[in-house]
Order: sequence, then C-alpha cells, then structure tokens
Amino acid sequence: MTPPTKKKRILSGVQSSGRLHIGNYFGAVKQHIALQDEGDCFYFIADYHALTTIQDPQVLRDRTHDAALDYLALGLDPAKVAFFRQSDVPEVCELTWFFLTVTNMGLLERAVSFKDKVDKGIEASAGLFTYPVLMAADILIYRSNLVPVGQDQVQHIEMTQDIAGKFNRAYKEIFPIPNYKLDKGSKVPGTDGQKMSKSYGNTIDIFAEGKPLEKSVMGIKTDSTPMGQPLNPDTCIVYTLYSLFATDAEAQALAADYRAGKIGYGGAKKLLKVKIDEYFAAAREKRKQLAQNPGFVEDVLREGAKKARGEAQATMALVREAVGMGAKSVV
Ligand code: TRP
Repeated sequence: MTPPTKKKRILSGVQSSGRLHIGNYFGAVKQHIALQDEGDCFYFIADYHALTTIQDPQVLRDRTHDAALDYLALGLDPAKVAFFRQSDVPEVCELTWFFLTVTNMGLLERAVSFKDKVDKGIEASAGLFTYPVLMAADILIYRSNLVPVGQDQVQHIEMTQDIAGKFNRAYKEIFPIPNYKLDKGSKVPGTDGQKMSKSYGNTIDIFAEGKPLEKSVMGIKTDSTPMGQPLNPDTCIVYTLYSLFATDAEAQALAADYRAGKIGYGGAKKLLKVKIDEYFAAAREKRKQLAQNPGFVEDVLREGAKKARGEAQATMALVREAVGMGAKSVV
C-alpha cells in the first residue's frame, strides 16, 4: 500500500486593517479559502503584528474578532483549517528571538515595507523594524511549505527563506525553505482606477449594503461619453469590476452592449451593484448570524490555537535542543 502523500502545509496571516473590500477578496481571501481544500492549512489573525500600529486594546480586540468573522462568513471552514489568533501561540515570540540572533541588520534595512510605513508616518519602533522576523517565525514555527500572499509581502517571504537557511546552517536542518504563492488580484481597480486600497479611499466594501454600497458603486469614475454612444469596455472600471463577478457569457453580453451604445455608465453601475449584492448575499447573511454568537468565533479560534500550539511546541523543542538549551541530552 502506498502511504498517503503528505499534504503541503500552507500558512498565511491576516493583518486586519478594518473592513474587507472586494480588492482584498479577489486579491487574497478567495484564494486562501480555495486552498483549504488543497493543503494542510494554518491561517491566523496577526494581532502581534497589529501592535506595531494599534495601541488601543479595544480596537485590537474588535479588529481581531471582526477579521475572524469576515473569514468565517466568506467560507473559511474551521473543520479544514487551523484558524487561530497569532497571540494564542506565544512561542512565536520566543522563536523570533532566536531568529533575531541570526538575522543581519542589513537584511532588515533593505525592507521596502518598513521604509514605506515610515514614509507614511508610522513610528519607526524596533517592533516595526523587526516585523519581518516575527513573520519568519510565524511561517517557520509550523514548518510551512507554501505561503499565499500579496506582492507587497514577497520580500518578507524572501527574508524568511534567508533566515531559515541561516538557522539551518548555523545549527541543524529544522526548517523547510518555504515558497510564496502570489495572490492574483493585485489588479482590482478601485473606484478611481488606482489599485483598490483602503489607504487610497477608493474601496467597495464587501459587507456594505444598501445606500453605502450604492454610493461607492455610483461613485466609480467614468469618462464623459454621452448616453447612446458606444463605450469601450476595455478601459472602463465598471466593466472590469463587473467581469470579476459575472460569468464569461454575461461579461461578453455587457461588452457587446457597451460597444453598441445600448447601455450607459449609470446602467452598467446598476448591473454591477446587483452582481455584488448577489455574490455576497450568503456571506452577509452568515456574518450577521455569526455576529449574534460571539462565543462561536471564540471557540473556533481557541480550537485552532490548540492545534497550532501543539505544532509550535514540537518545533520549539527541536530548536531549544539545537541551540543548546535545556538539560544536556543523555544519549
Ligand atoms: N504581514 C502580513 C500582511 O500584512 C500578515 C502576516 C503576518 C503574514 N505574518 C504572516 C502573512 C505570515 C503571511 C505569513 O498581510
């Protein structure tokens, strides 16, 4: 009998920066959820990392809970994924220390994301500076193979590879060298045509409904072609967004109407809003139900943490032994 092939360990962290938008969804969340059927998945809410920007305990707690609700509502299945809060596995902080001692300052100084954040006015704390090392610990403590992330995180994964190699060479081959898997949707345009991002204020939120949703959809930038004139779907933000939700046939039908001048931008926006409502209807309903039962979310995170912590502790036993801590082994 052939032994069952070991599934790849897939890990990702979610740093909640508030309401999820459709750029997050098509960029990352959708892929994370699809991967739960392919690997042995560990997903967590990165609340230790969030401390580099949030210093209000209530905000931290609410954001963590909200991010968990969002993922569960959108289809994350806790029976398939170990879904947990980063801080429920405090061993990652210990591993961070070990990694700090093998990480060159120069490596961290080259981090683009650190420089960006400082340029944006976030205080350059040592925590922010060493953020990638905590990330390496997140990934390696579960001895993960694959890390689905956005383009902005690629450099952090490369640093993780570097740190894993350094540690393995200095002590013992404990860590597999992980790879990243790029989220595809970095191209979801926001309402102004730039990449959709909370920091540009051009988002369409997944869990917005009614008036607020209508307001963002109606606010999508279009050119001033008058009604009745042909429109070009290829350069239209409304059309691009519509295609994300529609079947190929529906997208082609709308493109034909654009070219024939049969539809104006207002009409296309209405169609888009209907699509968004349909697409997320079940998730919105589920989110409302889950929100009534905060105990459920807590139970899920606690269960996930049990599994994650067991794995983390097993890795840490090897690490402590490898660096020379604990009693000298007798064999
Ligand atoms: N830094 C990631 C982000 O902002 C979140 C994160 C923390 C993460 N630890 C991780 C992602 C480990 C992947 C793996 O999106």
